[in-house]
Amino acid sequence: MGIFDGRRIVLGVTGGIAAYKAVEVCRRLVDAGAHVSPILTKGAERFIGKATFDALASEKVQTSLWDEDNPIPHTNLGQNADLILVCPATARLLSDYRIGRSADLLTATLLATRAPVIICPAMHTEMWEQPSVQENIRELAGRGVEIVGPEKGRLAGGDDGTGRLSDPGSIVAAVEKVLNSGVGAQVQDFFGLQVLVTAGGTKEPICPVRYIGNRSSGKQGHAIALEAAARGAEVTCVTTQPDNIFHHPQIKVVAVETANEMAEAVFSESPKSDFIVMAAAVADFTPAERHKEKIKKSKEGLEIHLVPTVDILASLGATRNDEQILVGFAAETSDLEKNAKNKLESKGIDLIVANDISAANVGFDYDTNAAVLFDHMGKKTELPLADKREIAQAVLDAALKLKVDKHEESGGN
Ligand code: CTP
Repeated sequence: MGIFDGRRIVLGVTGGIAAYKAVEVCRRLVDAGAHVSPILTKGAERFIGKATFDALASEKVQTSLWDEDNPIPHTNLGQNADLILVCPATARLLSDYRIGRSADLLTATLLATRAPVIICPAMHTEMWEQPSVQENIRELAGRGVEIVGPEKGRLAGGDDGTGRLSDPGSIVAAVEKVLNSGVGAQVQDFFGLQVLVTAGGTKEPICPVRYIGNRSSGKQGHAIALEAAARGAEVTCVTTQPDNIFHHPQIKVVAVETANEMAEAVFSESPKSDFIVMAAAVADFTPAERHKEKIKKSKEGLEIHLVPTVDILASLGATRNDEQILVGFAAETSDLEKNAKNKLESKGIDLIVANDISAANVGFDYDTNAAVLFDHMGKKTELPLADKREIAQAVLDAALKLKVDKHEESGGN
């Protein structure tokens, strides 16, 4: 039996252009075996018809506190739900939910439940960035509401920016995760711990226009940052892809481009970090000189002299304190185990996450990954192909275990 089988999910849909995507989320949840009860707000009905959900959902679609004999539909829905998912959630919904205002069937149901709640905001960038909206999000996240997205991308009216509803796959994955975690409350096993994560590929400028880069999307590093934050950590994410990271109140985002900038940011944050996870693909070489002007086309070839960058992880390994846990990544195309173990030892770190990037659906730009973990105690853990968020969970589990073991070894209690 799958995790979705027989689970009662209330799907709240509010009035935004992204409401049409809730149809796909509904379909996927029903296909996976869940009982889905859609609640449409008045605004949602302007964007998407009740009949569409009627055809897809397993339960009756409801739109009002008053449109049936049952005088208390909200308490029935709220009390019986295993989970409430609001997708998309408008700024109004966030505000009403935060202040406890029962304005319609959906907000009444949200107030009448003890089930876990997932909210997927979607709105224009200007609205999303309003301090009032951000305050509402922080407050709700602080109360244990799981926030998914929004992401950066195309918005209504041809605009582009942060505010786009997360894709249905990520939303369904978040539902699965919450259902998997039992009561829905995320274990806060990283509470009080500082986690520093790097993500993305560095860009080494040749001239004002061109750079040497690599194919890293930053997704695995961002998934680790998000997972650590969800488990209670205070996270700093040093990333070359700041526009692609989920907003989370416990994640401080530091945007960098080059290996040098990344090194500087990491070295300034590292002393206070309990865990440092170097998921970034740091360039090993950078152009010795950066041309001030754009390099023009010529008939001659062009030689660019490259000099080595600082190995951030190896420097951390040489200078870290004993309680700190250092995690590195090794993207390999051959001799995975040998290369990964060499890196583990030569860089003086505790754990290495090795991926064979020549395998299918692994590495750059995929949402899935497969890896093998090697730790400094000689333990090897295979992580079969899974969502990057699940790989992140396993990496953090292993890192936390090493920290606890170290603490016990050093006589801590
Ligand atoms: N790394 C780093 N600083 C660098 C290069 C890499 O901190 N200048 C980190 C990466 O973030 C990763 C680990 O070191 O966690 C391994 O990176 P990788 O490029 O696979 O290893 P290298 O030591 O650069 O070896 P090679 O490229 O020769 O395989």
